[in-house]
Amino acid sequence: MGSLKKSGGYTGAILSRIATNDQHGENSEYFDGWKSYDKNPFHLSRNPHGIIQMGLAENQLCLDLIKEWIKENPKASVCTPEGVHQFSDIANFQDYHGLKEFRQAIAHFMGKARGGRVTFDPERIVMSGGATGANETIMFCLADPGDVFLVPSPYYAAFDRDLRWRTGVEIVPVHCSSSNNFKLTVEAVEWAYKKATESNKNVKGLLFTNPSNPLGTILDKDTLENLVRFVTKKNIHLVVDEIYAATVFAGENFVSVAEVVKDSEVNADLIHIVYSLSKDMGLPGFRVGIVYSYNDSVVSCARKMSSFGLVSSQTQFMLASMLSDDSFVDNFLMESSKRLGIRHGVFTLGLKKAGINCLISTAGLFVWMDLRHLLRVRNSFESEIELWHIIIDKVKLNVSPGSSFQCTEPGWFRVCFANMDDDTLHVALLRIQDFVSKNSNKTAEKASDNDQVIQNNNAKKQKWKQSNLRLSFRRLYEDGLSSPGIMSPHSPLLRT
Ligand SMILES: Cc1ncc(COP(=O)(O)O)c(C=O)c1O
Repeated sequence: MGSLKKSGGYTGAILSRIATNDQHGENSEYFDGWKSYDKNPFHLSRNPHGIIQMGLAENQLCLDLIKEWIKENPKASVCTPEGVHQFSDIANFQDYHGLKEFRQAIAHFMGKARGGRVTFDPERIVMSGGATGANETIMFCLADPGDVFLVPSPYYAAFDRDLRWRTGVEIVPVHCSSSNNFKLTVEAVEWAYKKATESNKNVKGLLFTNPSNPLGTILDKDTLENLVRFVTKKNIHLVVDEIYAATVFAGENFVSVAEVVKDSEVNADLIHIVYSLSKDMGLPGFRVGIVYSYNDSVVSCARKMSSFGLVSSQTQFMLASMLSDDSFVDNFLMESSKRLGIRHGVFTLGLKKAGINCLISTAGLFVWMDLRHLLRVRNSFESEIELWHIIIDKVKLNVSPGSSFQCTEPGWFRVCFANMDDDTLHVALLRIQDFVSKNSNKTAEKASDNDQVIQNNNAKKQKWKQSNLRLSFRRLYEDGLSSPGIMSPHSPLLRT
């Protein structure tokens, strides 16, 4: 594609560099996970041996509340007998500033989603096609092709597409490690900044998600303030993708960068927030993304660019009504957090029963699962991918390997837990437990042959078990033994 086809080969590019480069990420090997899932999707009754999708960061736990509200508020839609009298006005509306009521309602909602501790100015609300569009728009506003943004890793896999593909911006990862629970530190950012500038890169800013995708952790206020100080000192931008602002179910309050802007002396011209209703409201199909900048020129530029990714006026109209219903929103946010907390608790407990630990998290729609002990070869990305294939093909779960989030330590996997019903989650847990226990039994059989050695040395025994478990994974894969569900792979890059 993209070139003239001549006797089986391609010569003479006829399409653009963007059309023919592979920066979109779709050709990544990790996309195999999605393909496997699409070919054989799990269904409780119709396809109980299919692959369960655990690579999709969707929040489906509170859609019943939204449906209920829609039924009770037929006027909010222009496609009902109760609302059709507004149809012509809304169908014709296309101003890229957006409906005033929509901007007001979303600004109000953004404040609520941050615990009511901050307010947002409707005049600074700029629409985009989801946070995907918002992240790209902000890059277009802040950086030129070849310029660099520092992004802490592990990071949301689709940032490679959203921040770089069409803009030509480069990402320099700020590596975070398990030694401090992947916590982002100013020192790590300083180091990445230094390395990038020493390589003559033009660093334009720092961008991270808070709460974090894929970690599910939130940044403490001190660190956030220190990071704001750092960008101010360097005179570079700070973009915080707060798409999970209200997807918090335990622990400390989430602190928005908006609170730091409110409470501290900062150069607000350098601070920008990306938001969306895809996670907190569970509405990714509505494509409601927001660029919120404290910089007037950025607001103005992003607004002009929003012509390329407007939210349909029909959607704006309905959401304006829904999001200004205070009692609905308050109840929704409370209930969502409660249901997520329960789901997270059930899932992590089930994993624990299978001997699997996760990074402690209090937010997000996923856990960061530690399978380092199951790698055939420790510290090997090849083994990570090997294990990932086993999980997809044999355990039949589509989870996401850490390498697709640019994690520098092999053996971590992101697993989503809010995009399915309770029964499907139960099956997923059974598959994982079954898989691990089968492998443990195999290990035990082997162990009895080696009783002597094992009894003599407890430490050795532990090590032996681990390596046999690793071998068992391998054997399971090669023998094609497998329970209907093992775990599985993830996906890629593009959809979550
Ligand atoms: C951190 C982050 N940013 C952006 C997006 C894209 O969201 P949207 O569906 O609003 O485009 C996602 C989706 O998973 C995400 O996790």
